[in-house]
Amino acid sequence: MSFENKTALVTGASAGIGYGIAKALVDAGARVIITGRHAERLDKAVAELGPNASGIVADATKLADLRRLFDTLKADHGHLDVLIANAGGGEPVPLVDVTEQHVDDTLTWNLKSTIFSVQFALPIMPSGGAIVLIGSNASKAPPIGMSVYAAAKAGVRALVTGWVQEIKGSGVRINVVSPGPVRTPGLEGFFAAEEAEATFDFLAGQSTVGRIGTTDDIAAATLFLAGNTAGYINGIELFVDGGAARL
Ligand SMILES: NC(=O)c1ccc[n+]([C@@H]2O[C@H](COP(=O)([O-])OP(=O)(O)OC[C@H]3O[C@@H](n4cnc5c(N)ncnc54)[C@H](OP(=O)(O)O)[C@@H]3O)[C@@H](O)[C@H]2O)c1
Repeated sequence: MSFENKTALVTGASAGIGYGIAKALVDAGARVIITGRHAERLDKAVAELGPNASGIVADATKLADLRRLFDTLKADHGHLDVLIANAGGGEPVPLVDVTEQHVDDTLTWNLKSTIFSVQFALPIMPSGGAIVLIGSNASKAPPIGMSVYAAAKAGVRALVTGWVQEIKGSGVRINVVSPGPVRTPGLEGFFAAEEAEATFDFLAGQSTVGRIGTTDDIAAATLFLAGNTAGYINGIELFVDGGAARL
């Protein structure tokens, strides 16, 4: 699938799933802007992605950063064809230990960031534009301790269901890709080094295809939904999790 002459923004893309999507978009011919909170990580990723990539340091949870990001995008590129709202994450906290801070942080990281990324992007997206939000299969099959995160990601699905009605006629489509476990720095950070291999084997066993996901799996689904061949697909949540969420 070609993204020649398309301008794409991937939030949270100096590592992990976002980086994988950004790389696939660059390989497909897009001009890709990536964001992250830490300049040195972002600069390294931009250098690896090559001349069709550029980086803007921006925290997707902070409105001032998002305003600066989209003002810069408009000034530099005029418009945006593809938005991948990927920045997000969570940490395991069982209900008994959930704090006000955990709730605020998790909802801010996954919902506030997504809401305002889309709100700021839409005015510079022409007809034919596509938005893909990165959810999680936790929204259907929450791992123990991930209920607040799962609720936030279920909220991402709810947002899209409403938004496709609100922007009907704009020519911009919005869909959700919901990954199962993918071995990224974010997921690895959950487990002690000595537990990691056993944990990833356990997670692979929960999938019906016998393995966990890769960033390439998630990028392939994301580019499909962002591309023109998916022009009749709007408002869906596509689970890319080896069938795990249906068990
Ligand atoms: N990995 C999985 O198994 C999995 C499964 C289902 C869903 N997901 C979802 O997939 C997305 C990516 O997860 P991941 O595992 O790839 O994460 P990751 O390995 O932790 O990488 C996150 C990337 O996003 C950046 N980032 C984090 N918070 C940000 C923010 N507020 N603003 C801008 N950039 C930010 C990080 O760079 P800086 O730290 O420099 O900002 C990094 O480049 C998340 O929405 C996550 O919930 C992941």
